[in-house]
Amino acid sequence: MYSFLSLLFSFAAIAGGLILFRRWRYRRLNLPPGSLGLPFIGETLQLISLYKTDNPEPFMDERMKRYGPIFMTHVFGEATVFSADPDTNRFILANEGKLFEISYPGSISNLLGKHSLLLMKGNLHKRMHSMTMSFASSTILKDHLLADADRLIQLSMDSWSNRVLLLEQAKKITFDLTTKQLMSFDPDEWTESLRKHYVLVIEGFFAIPFTLFSTTYRRAIKARTKVVEALTPVVRERRKRSEIDGERKKDMLGAMLASGDQFSDDEIVDFLLALIVGGYETTSTIMTLAIKFLTDTPLALAQLKEEHDQIRSRSKPGAPLEWADYKSMIFTQCVVNETLRMANIIGGIFRRTTTDININGYTIPKGWKVFASLRAVHLNPDHFKDARTFNPWRWQNKSETTVPGNVYAPFGGGPRLCPGYELARVVLSVFLHRIVTTFSWVPAEEDKLVFFPTTRTQKRLPLIVKRREESSHCI
Ligand code: HEM
Ligand SMILES: *[C@@H]1O[C@H](CO)[C@@H](O)[C@H](O)[C@H]1NC(C)=O
Ligand SMILES: *[C@@H]1O[C@H](CO)[C@@H](O)[C@H](O)[C@H]1NC(C)=O
Repeated sequence: MYSFLSLLFSFAAIAGGLILFRRWRYRRLNLPPGSLGLPFIGETLQLISLYKTDNPEPFMDERMKRYGPIFMTHVFGEATVFSADPDTNRFILANEGKLFEISYPGSISNLLGKHSLLLMKGNLHKRMHSMTMSFASSTILKDHLLADADRLIQLSMDSWSNRVLLLEQAKKITFDLTTKQLMSFDPDEWTESLRKHYVLVIEGFFAIPFTLFSTTYRRAIKARTKVVEALTPVVRERRKRSEIDGERKKDMLGAMLASGDQFSDDEIVDFLLALIVGGYETTSTIMTLAIKFLTDTPLALAQLKEEHDQIRSRSKPGAPLEWADYKSMIFTQCVVNETLRMANIIGGIFRRTTTDININGYTIPKGWKVFASLRAVHLNPDHFKDARTFNPWRWQNKSETTVPGNVYAPFGGGPRLCPGYELARVVLSVFLHRIVTTFSWVPAEEDKLVFFPTTRTQKRLPLIVKRREESSHCI
């Protein structure tokens, strides 16, 4: 008993000493205001526990009120400067590769593979980023991606009847579309089994803070091996065919094989995987949340239906969507922007300083983490009137007071701007077109938004769907 108490006492003394030492060291720098919390764990527990409430931004709200939009804290094992200031965020993103750099723990690169776009730096990153951007550009979207998306979305919806779990359906659609776009595969058992392994890899990302203890993480590493084993022969086969008969398919794999860079099979596989990772959770979640917000906002849903029924009435029954149809979806684009603003799938972006940096009169020491919070900006009533209400009409007649142009950044910015930004918008628009013109629906159960670790709904949005022609027969 005595030795336990003395152990406890020494631990408290060491911890107290560390706090004093840290205070003394940091007082000499002009750090942003804020608290570093307890040694080792900092404010991590506050961060996690606060997000169990209904407020989307409790951690940021509380600290912004106390310290202003730039403050320091200590989460996930490191001192971190949080920014909820749009100008500072833009500065951070624009200076990627110069004053700031990505920095992921090794447990992430084990899952992604070291040739992932998300992990590349410097010139190689620049080249590969621009190749990816051009691959999801409006030219290619116009040429065939829009039509592929339209066809695969309808194919998937053909099987919907009665009760659907919307998030699961959205994930299947997103995955099918991605394998089509990357490797020209239509959905079948092979793509479905690839998806099963892939889902286990994704689960690994959410286990990262607990890797040492996590069976989920170990299972994810094994699943990654399976994914690599499935993709490598595909790459090999296509390489062979492009060398022998000069075959050139219009997909990402084709573009990589034809590029002057002479990528190895490993590099191509990691690269393809990065694109699947970038698009999968994000696009499927945004589809689900758009439907959630619309279901809760009947006026917006009615106006959206009207817009899409008009597009249908202009074309022959069963006709595919055209680029001109997409361009005429005016209110849809308001819904898309508003969904991205409210949902903030990527709530913010971590970087690490490569040198001491002065921002707004504060110093951020070299090697510190910074977190540019996109969500805190998008949900701040100083920037968006009634910021926490879903109001697509705010985008209709934008004025600087309702929608200031320079603070909205759901896809990040600078050298790492999301290469899928246009693709995601088009896919979401096509999805909305097909769902509102084909179905009417009601929630199958009450479902609630949750905000941690990412924004989603608790029950994956179960809906009872009914085909619209059936419902009109009934009348
Ligand atoms: C609603 C959908 C999406 C959202 C909200 C979103 C958001 C973002 C954001 C904020 C970043 C910047 C990360 C950073 O700066 O560190 C990013 C990067 C990225 N996104 Fe997306 N994204 C979406 C869809 C997609 C899609 C469909 C793809 C597939 C092509 C994709 C692929 C990527 C990749 C590969 C990166 C890394 C870029 C780099 O590090 O150079 N994303 N995304
Ligand atoms: C939606 O947001 C983008 C910026 O991401 C902007 O360029 C576009 O004009 C917005 N659309 C509408 C309808 O306001
Ligand atoms: C903006 O929208 C509101 C409501 O939809 C409307 O009353 C107002 O006239 C519009 N303003 C402009 C400048 O179009």
